[in-house]
Amino acid sequence: MLSEADIQDAGDVLRGGGVVAFPTETVYGLGANALDAEAVAKVFAAKARPSFDPLIVHVPDPDAAFALWREVPALARTLAEAFWPGPLTMVLPKADAIPGIVTSGLGTVGVRVPRHEVAQRLLRAAGVPVAAPSANAFGGISPTRAEHVAVPCDRVLDGGPCSTGVESTVVGFADPSDPDAPPVTVLRLGGTAVEALESVVGQPIPIAKPGAKLASPGMLERHYAPRTPLHLVDRLEAVDPARLGNRRVALLSLQGETGRGMGFTHIRALSPTGDLTVAAAHLFEVMHELDRCGVDLILAERVPDHGLGRAINDRLRRAATS
Ligand code: TXA
Ligand code: MG
Repeated sequence: MLSEADIQDAGDVLRGGGVVAFPTETVYGLGANALDAEAVAKVFAAKARPSFDPLIVHVPDPDAAFALWREVPALARTLAEAFWPGPLTMVLPKADAIPGIVTSGLGTVGVRVPRHEVAQRLLRAAGVPVAAPSANAFGGISPTRAEHVAVPCDRVLDGGPCSTGVESTVVGFADPSDPDAPPVTVLRLGGTAVEALESVVGQPIPIAKPGAKLASPGMLERHYAPRTPLHLVDRLEAVDPARLGNRRVALLSLQGETGRGMGFTHIRALSPTGDLTVAAAHLFEVMHELDRCGVDLILAERVPDHGLGRAINDRLRRAATS
């Protein structure tokens, strides 16, 4: 358990321009004062992150979020009410106070209100908005436990394993001058299911293709990747075990059962009961583990493409080497 003194100390570090790794319900973040460009630069340096990839700003409540945007559309208020605190990031034109380094020079800023108790306490102690990417080296697997945080920083707050386990869903809003555009677009799949967003918005929500005009700069094709090559297949049944040869191969699949007897050196199920929300919570942890177990190849099987399964498949696709 983190003491109040630990939280206050980390808040002081943030206010003083330092960098703090902290838990959120999605993944661990690497935070700095979002209003302090030099502090934010330390985060880019620690992650070796390219400066074209904008950061998400974290605040403890919706009013603090609204203060970071130039205007707040009614639909953003509705989504805030429905999904905050939680794994949803909303991108809107930014207030002047946000320095360009946070947004990679874009005129918009992504903001979210995390639900994790430690994140909430830290943000209140800091008293400043906190810009935080996931606390992994750029392109690597996101950390879902304090032990996974392997980048330089001033403090690491250990809040245990993350409950959601994949990053927040990022959404953008249509330009008010374009009445034909869909009101909301998903820029990155994540911990809030598209179906849940659609039920609040009341219409289908498109998902931006990487490279599209609205797409997130962070939607790189190769991302979230282990060092071990990862190969993604639609169905394990279609894999001929003879083709695995005498390589040491680990299987990562939803339930694991179908891989028994196929010669895998390790089999890891994301959720033995096939629950996609549970699977999302375990995804990065299992990827970290299989990356360390000394196999030549990780064979991953796609999961059903609905609910959080869509975010899981998105991460597996980006982790795949070919
Ligand atoms: O769950 C999360 O979102 C975690 C935790 C720490 O909050 N954070 C996270 O940050 O995943 P990061 O830096 O790994 O991913 C942020 C992504 C960017 O790569 C980009 O895709 C999108 O959010 N993003 C941020 N600001 C944006 C903007 N102004 N316009 C478009 N996309 C933006
Ligand atoms: Mg990341």
